[in-house]
Amino acid sequence: MTEFHDPSEALRPLFQAALTVAFGAEFASEDPILRPSTHADLQANLAMGLAKRLKKQPRAVAEAIAAALPIGDVLAAVEVAGPGFLNLTLADAWIAAAATAMLRDPRHGVPLAPAPERVVIDYSAPNVAKEMHVGHLRSTVIGDALARLLGWRGHTVIRQNHVGDWGTPFGMLIEHLLDLGEAQASSELGVGELSSFYKAARVKFDSDPAFAERARHRVVQLQGGDPETLRLWGLLVDLSRRYFSLVYDRLGVTLTPGDIKGESFYNPALAPLCDELERGGKATLNQDALCVFPEGFLGRNKEPLPLMIRKKDGGFGYATTDLAAIRHRLDDLKATRILYVVGAPQEQHLAMVIATAKQFGWLAPPARAEHVKFGSVLGTDKRMFKTRQGDTVRLVDLIDAAVEAAEKEVRANCQGLDEDTLLALSRDVGIGAIKFADLSSDRVKDYVFELERMVEFKGRTGGYIQYAHARIQSIFRKTQEELSELSFAEAFTLAEAPEQRAAERALLFRLLGLREVILAVETSLQPHLLCTFLLEVAEAFSTFYNACPVKGAEPAQRSVRLAMCKLTAEVLATGLSLLGIQAPPRM
Ligand code: ARG
Repeated sequence: MTEFHDPSEALRPLFQAALTVAFGAEFASEDPILRPSTHADLQANLAMGLAKRLKKQPRAVAEAIAAALPIGDVLAAVEVAGPGFLNLTLADAWIAAAATAMLRDPRHGVPLAPAPERVVIDYSAPNVAKEMHVGHLRSTVIGDALARLLGWRGHTVIRQNHVGDWGTPFGMLIEHLLDLGEAQASSELGVGELSSFYKAARVKFDSDPAFAERARHRVVQLQGGDPETLRLWGLLVDLSRRYFSLVYDRLGVTLTPGDIKGESFYNPALAPLCDELERGGKATLNQDALCVFPEGFLGRNKEPLPLMIRKKDGGFGYATTDLAAIRHRLDDLKATRILYVVGAPQEQHLAMVIATAKQFGWLAPPARAEHVKFGSVLGTDKRMFKTRQGDTVRLVDLIDAAVEAAEKEVRANCQGLDEDTLLALSRDVGIGAIKFADLSSDRVKDYVFELERMVEFKGRTGGYIQYAHARIQSIFRKTQEELSELSFAEAFTLAEAPEQRAAERALLFRLLGLREVILAVETSLQPHLLCTFLLEVAEAFSTFYNACPVKGAEPAQRSVRLAMCKLTAEVLATGLSLLGIQAPPRM
């Protein structure tokens, strides 16, 4: 079997050789700094940095490298441009051969990770008896994409849904449940009326002192383990879990009830943890509250910033639970990589938790923890995404709206589908649109939620990629129908006609980028790189298909082009599935 090489990897040894010739062996492993180029296939940007160290002109350095780069099987041409860029053009035959290897490999050139890790991904994490909002949507969608991608690379992915199922609000929630009656409460929560339930409890708590007193007493009973109180608490947790599952099913995310490890799971560990830290002198009392002081965190007056782990009244909080959780993930789950897919506002909190775990030696290399932070979802008015009444938008309403908008688009664009197929397609496009919009922008940035644009089949949308994929399936169907043979070449060759050759070559070159982009997402945890890659593939396909007849080509060329279609469809479907987006066969 031919070993698959992506372009950067194939060029690396060439640069090593050239650098040795030009500047000596000590420069051999210099990173060529390869980037996409608009003038050639790739651009190497190393000359500028090297020039400083060599005290030479960047252009002269670039010329020396260019002169030493071997032109041959891999590299067809090299050209020095501007202040010292190297424009690199790969050999057509190399591209065809590399794409052939990719076609034959069931993993399309993306190897399994040589050293698989145990990756804990903390994502979704909605709160019991509270509505899931767009922040939870982001965490769920981003976390799920990362879970899929890391799993595909062969890592052991351990999903942890850190559901907010404990804390003082449960006093008022339980009392409100009793006021309503269990049956009424169940039917409200069962259909996802979470925010009105929560709000009603809150209103009573704030306005009715007797209710507030009952709620506070209930918190004491809950913490004391009173069986009836625990039963009522369990009821609330259960109802919400069922509701979360419904949302996950509709979204098509891989989270299951078994992935839920709520905050309450860590309750038994909290007191011992605090005692241990206090005894070991690692935590100190600060105005009767027990605190740890992770190094490097300072307050406004440069005083060490505390992370409070036990309140004055003896209660534990969000931070205590997170410390117990990180320890559990390291000691029991044996994680070597922990990802927190949590919004940017919790940056300091998580940084302090991670720093504390390092300081106490719980978290040590090679194990590491990363905050996969994300920005906010904005409305078209560029403000926080809210309903007209100023409430949080219910996730289920959002899903409904997306599917509805997608249905309009589907009815307008897709002919000849029966009603069931059409409705299923609208779901795939609508959910895919939400996910793609979320995943396709740099996650740290805010993005604007603009449903009409998101569900379109053009532009930077999921629909554009789904459409390219479905179009290829339709080419297969039509070819099969008309010629009753669907023969796929097993190796790629390029057409003679210049325009067609260029379009074929450009498509294959794009496809070769799969391995690099998957590895880039694996390290940077930036799914938008994969989204951009898929858009580029879909675009290259569209240019190819406009320039190159498939069904109408003579048989040998037809089967080569059918194979090009096949590899394209497989790469698009793989990419979409890693993003958690469906690839419907017909659109
Ligand atoms: N439940 C929290 C929220 O809704 C998110 C929890 C994130 N995970 C964690 N380990 N702190 O904001």
